[in-house]
Amino acid sequence: MDLNEDTITQAVLQRNATAASPRLRHVMALLVQHLHAFAREASLTEEEWSAGIEFLTAVGQTCDSKRQEFILLSDVLGLSTLVTASNHRKPRGCTEATVLGPFYVANAPELPLGADIAQGAKGEPCFVRGTVRRDDGQPVADAEMHVWQSDEDGFYDVQHVDREVLAARAVLRSDSEGRFHFRSIVPEPYPIPHDGPVGRMLTALNRHPWRPAHLHFLIHAAGCQTLTTHVFRRGDKYLASDAVFGVRSTLVADWARQEPGTAPDGSVMTSPFHTLNFDFVLARADP
Ligand SMILES: [Fe+2]
Repeated sequence: MDLNEDTITQAVLQRNATAASPRLRHVMALLVQHLHAFAREASLTEEEWSAGIEFLTAVGQTCDSKRQEFILLSDVLGLSTLVTASNHRKPRGCTEATVLGPFYVANAPELPLGADIAQGAKGEPCFVRGTVRRDDGQPVADAEMHVWQSDEDGFYDVQHVDREVLAARAVLRSDSEGRFHFRSIVPEPYPIPHDGPVGRMLTALNRHPWRPAHLHFLIHAAGCQTLTTHVFRRGDKYLASDAVFGVRSTLVADWARQEPGTAPDGSVMTSPFHTLNFDFVLARADP
């Protein structure tokens, strides 16, 4: 009883102290302490508290099966990059991880190596190839590689409300020597969805919503740590100001423009196309 601004924090900590899970006890104690410290330090007004509640309510109400406004909020606040970086400290030489982003879909079609994963998505043709290896140099056969990307208009398939078909995304498997190759389209920079509460927050903060062009990869392989990463297009004007803070210089690569002629997969191209080579190095899983 009679709790005041000096005693309320300790009272909440005591009330939570008998939670069965030690981890929950620990995390909730820190959350309450930091949340209360934030309110004290900011001298939070009732109007600001109310605006915060309304903002978070709007973030939740903007979410549906295809739109994840909370991941977006985490991304633009740098929380996603912080959690990714602190959970994926890898041995030297391993491909760096970056954020998952809000457009991953678990049920993408599994396609054979060499397939055109664009599946009707529009953009300049691009031929991608590379290898998957472990950090001891051994090739990784049968790595499950989820790939997804934006089209020439900067949209992911799930953002096209008129289209139910998944496109510019697939699951591929590396061959017995760890190699992979596929055809797709050149990704373009895109603004993160900014017609909702997160976009309004960015505007208030005088920030742009753009992400530099990239290909997403999520790679699972037996005996290796799962890798969530992107490959970014060198020369993109948003590399240094990615709205979600995801760029790593080691993940920037060249999309080489090629004149019409024979593509790496042997097909004859009558218009210019691009080629991208990128090799992945996975950290071995802890024994
Ligand atoms: Fe993306």
